[in-house]
Amino acid sequence: MKHLIDPTDLTKQETDQIIALAQDIIADRQKYQEILAHKKLATLFYEPSTRTRLSFTAAMMELGGNVLGFSDAKSSSVSKGETVQDTVRVVGCFADVIAMRHHIEGAQQYATEVSRVPIINAGDGSHSHPTQTLTDLLTITRELGHIDGITIGFCGDLKFGRTVHSLIKALSRYKDIKVILIAPDELKLPDYIKQDVCDRLGVQYREVHTMEEVMPELDVLYMTRVQQERFLDMDEFNRVKDSFVLDAKKMSLAKEKMAVLHPLPRVNEILTEVDSDPRAAYFRQVENGKFVRMALITKLLEWKDDPAHDNVGRAGMAGSNLLAADSEELPAGARCPNSKCICNNENAPARFHKTDSGAIRCCYCDARIK
Ligand code: NCD
Repeated sequence: MKHLIDPTDLTKQETDQIIALAQDIIADRQKYQEILAHKKLATLFYEPSTRTRLSFTAAMMELGGNVLGFSDAKSSSVSKGETVQDTVRVVGCFADVIAMRHHIEGAQQYATEVSRVPIINAGDGSHSHPTQTLTDLLTITRELGHIDGITIGFCGDLKFGRTVHSLIKALSRYKDIKVILIAPDELKLPDYIKQDVCDRLGVQYREVHTMEEVMPELDVLYMTRVQQERFLDMDEFNRVKDSFVLDAKKMSLAKEKMAVLHPLPRVNEILTEVDSDPRAAYFRQVENGKFVRMALITKLLEWKDDPAHDNVGRAGMAGSNLLAADSEELPAGARCPNSKCICNNENAPARFHKTDSGAIRCCYCDARIK
């Protein structure tokens, strides 16, 4: 069965097929309006969401399917102490596919171990957000006509911004991508992405401290919100919250054909004066999110019983190897150091994999053990 937990669970070819189907849906929506009649999507949202949940709901409805689920874990059995795995076992009796958002990193990966229906990760903590990535890939394709060869600037909260982590992983499969990281020191991209994605897969990147110095080079500017809810230290949040603000003056330095993306919600990092600039693609991006989710749900159901599309190895880094619990490569009593990881929050076993660069990482959240 095919689950989508990390963008690299999809091969490049499968990703291309989803983007192509989304474009076909856009071209002829009528053709698809009944194709998922009598199918059900469950949306299990343990963490707040507007766009992502509604986008999944609208996507399923536009395909003729139905939707059930919860948008507030307090109204579900979770408040009685039910585990993620039990909830997924139960919901799998009612639905054909599950979209889940959770504040605990790796929760969806853990859920796949017992699920009898495909699981889509709609965001797990600050770890991963693969359906936003598909949205971003479709948006770049539609705005610029290509993904290969682009220079993309990521600006803002690169530490906690899961959409950034997932998109960089996905972009590593395209040719000649240049990544420019624009963030204060406190919000820099985590090392695991720099090492295991950029260095290992040959994505050129550099880190800068101002938007102005790189604006003229960019084909895409990917803005993000500072993720207040993920800070443990509010003083630190207050120091960095207004770090980078995009305004009309900065836009005047950019290429005529640049595209500004933002997963939304925005707080104050893009002034509303930018909204009327034709390069502001973030509201078009929202609609692309619905089309790409229509394509994704259709494909996951089509691939469900085809072993050729099964997830290979663990979700996450392509080419990674699962280590047996008694592997000599693991330090005695190894534990994941991430307090927000599922294996430190539910009775998920500690499980590790070794990446091609030799690092040993948690299978659920990618935290480095050694
Ligand atoms: C993002 C998310 O939830 O990670 N939003 C979204 O899914 N469109 C970005 C954010 O919350 O800042």
